[in-house]
Amino acid sequence: MAYFLGIDLGTSAVKCILVGEDGAVAASRSEEYPLHTPQPGWAEQHPEDWWTKTAACIRALLADAAIPGSEIAGVGLSGQMHGSVFLDKELRVVRPALLWCDQRTAAECDWIEATIGQQELARLTGNRALTGFTAPKVIWLRKHEPEHFARTAHLMLPKDYVRLQLTGEFGMDMADASGTLLLDVARRRWSEEVLQRLGIPAEWLPPLYESNDIAGRLTAEAAQLTGLAEGTPVVAGGGDQACGAVGVGVVREGIASVALGTSGVVFVHDDTYEADPLCRLHAFCHGVPGRWHRMGVMLAAGGSFQWWKNHFAFEELHKAKAEGRDVYEYLTALAETAPLGSEGLLFLPYLSGERTPHPDPKARGAFIGLTVRHSKAHLTRAVLEGITFGLRDSMELVKQSGIQIRELRVNGGGARSPFWRQMIADIFGLPVVTVNSTDGPAYGAAVMAASGVRNVDITELCDRWIRPVTRTEPNPASRSRYESFYAVYRTLYDTLKATSHQLTDLVAEG
Ligand code: XUL
Repeated sequence: MAYFLGIDLGTSAVKCILVGEDGAVAASRSEEYPLHTPQPGWAEQHPEDWWTKTAACIRALLADAAIPGSEIAGVGLSGQMHGSVFLDKELRVVRPALLWCDQRTAAECDWIEATIGQQELARLTGNRALTGFTAPKVIWLRKHEPEHFARTAHLMLPKDYVRLQLTGEFGMDMADASGTLLLDVARRRWSEEVLQRLGIPAEWLPPLYESNDIAGRLTAEAAQLTGLAEGTPVVAGGGDQACGAVGVGVVREGIASVALGTSGVVFVHDDTYEADPLCRLHAFCHGVPGRWHRMGVMLAAGGSFQWWKNHFAFEELHKAKAEGRDVYEYLTALAETAPLGSEGLLFLPYLSGERTPHPDPKARGAFIGLTVRHSKAHLTRAVLEGITFGLRDSMELVKQSGIQIRELRVNGGGARSPFWRQMIADIFGLPVVTVNSTDGPAYGAAVMAASGVRNVDITELCDRWIRPVTRTEPNPASRSRYESFYAVYRTLYDTLKATSHQLTDLVAEG
């Protein structure tokens, strides 16, 4: 039997899966790599780590599954979006990549919007200049590390560095390219005008592909390192959000996905290009050829829960380990013992600043409403409720854009918890569905590979392979109670904005 290899180059680890011709996942494996924060708000990784770990992961996956490389009919790539990989003309890495969650480029974003004009930028790219996006990182490099800028000959996104190692070819899909701020999203081509006005050389950029286009074949050297066969086709793939949406079957209008990874994303499919003139939601190309999507991105969704677990759940970590349970499952069970609304305790999830709906690197997190009655259970529930209210903010923007949604598909680690799924259904007022594919972006990348190699539409493959398995309806009583808490939550960003900025500036002054 032939298999398709889906690779998702995440922020903390690379995940590789093998999917058979019947759509079933035959094997999966991941390898971690470090994230470096040389200064507060900075986030960097070494592209060499991505490649070393990806090659090791593929080799171990094939060995574990006892499947020879010659049975892999195609490879699809997914990855963390927006990160800037700078290579010199000998294809050496110039400096560590700046990642999607790096917040150092506020001044560069202002400069881009002043240089091009916010409305003109929206007309040309469909988007605003946001700190996570790639173009501001390039401008930062020119300003702060001119010697590195002068050495740069190629600019690419994280997974496209892995593509280069696998195939020896430059290439980028339009979905991931949308997050560079250098793409004319409506026309699915590089924006010569933006490149020229920002002074970024067009020759730095790779050729563009649709996600299921074959964009190269495995080199002999990569075959040797990974155990795959030389000449194996590698499709363009997509950014992790487009791949994640394909991976749960969000390939038609009317269904939205909520991705609960480190970031939290509300994602809707668009048959035609529709951009919000105020660019509150991102308007990007989808991984479905000739289609688009809009999304709202929270920077610390699962990331807030992970922070809570890492710093305040030693006891739970210990107990969960002793009982052989997952610590997140343990913590959600604890949260469930606190009442809805956490007895008046609200959590603001802006631990990494925020993107949607408040594009503000200086936004800060908070617990509001603490009393002596509040226990760890309340605080844990407040963290989950705060993350879900933050996601609801993006759904409000979707609704304001006139998009009708009848169903939410959740994916990512948080989707495993029935308690959190019920909370999402109640806070969004929509049915929440989980599907049989639970490998997120890696699964979407494998679908793209199968689509390209077998010449079948992505939508058709999703219909064949992806089926709903659970459905959670909103509970009317909880829904109305959550509405009251959400109304208070919505006021908090504005109330605390000046304080958050003052604190951020104080820390920066040292
Ligand atoms: C999307 C985004 C994040 C990263 C996480 O715009 O910035 O979801 O892709 O990997």
